[in-house]
Amino acid sequence: LDLAHTYWKQIVNVGDIVIDATCGNGHDTLALALLALEKMHGTIYAFDIQSSAIEKTKLYLKNRLSDEEFKSVNFFQMCHSSFPTEIKAETVKLIAYNLGYLPGGDKKATSQSKTTLVSVKAAQDLVQDGGAISITCYPGHPEGQREENELLLHCQQLSPKLWSCCHHRWLNRHDSPSLLLIQRQKT
Ligand SMILES: C[S@@+](CC[C@H](N)C(=O)[O-])C[C@H]1O[C@@H](n2cnc3c(N)ncnc32)[C@H](O)[C@@H]1O
Repeated sequence: LDLAHTYWKQIVNVGDIVIDATCGNGHDTLALALLALEKMHGTIYAFDIQSSAIEKTKLYLKNRLSDEEFKSVNFFQMCHSSFPTEIKAETVKLIAYNLGYLPGGDKKATSQSKTTLVSVKAAQDLVQDGGAISITCYPGHPEGQREENELLLHCQQLSPKLWSCCHHRWLNRHDSPSLLLIQRQKT
């Protein structure tokens, strides 16, 4: 997770449009908001399939952002397999996924390989040149393993002229989370 946040810092600037595709408790959304928002500049779109996650993220951000910054965060309780049409193609700097389920939450609300793959393909249309998709995978449970496998297979098939794909994983910690980065080449 530290690695993901370090990478986000290199990619996201104030004024950017950024998506958190799995906002959960709001920790990642806050990290993204602190990079992209300043006064009226920048926009965040935060998604989660669970209403409790949206409420938790709202509360977490409200206490930590200015009123102006909070107004620049748009919340959507929905599956990330499609994105609202108000988010235009090739305008988004970073789309972040922190897959799996919330620790201590409902394990049945885990992300699913099928919808995750559909979502990542949709996210590729939204990313601007030089922008990126950051995906934290959790292969320590069966659906997470399937999800990671399918994402890796998808990335291996992407044109290197258009996309740079990189997978970071621990070599000496079995089943630990991994980070997949998909960056759109600058044209
Ligand atoms: C590991 S948690 C995210 C942690 C969060 N980023 C944070 O900083 O607290 C994964 C989240 O993905 C959400 N999720 C699972 N499937 C989803 C889907 N199809 N669309 C949107 N959110 C989904 C879950 O409800 C859960 O809140």
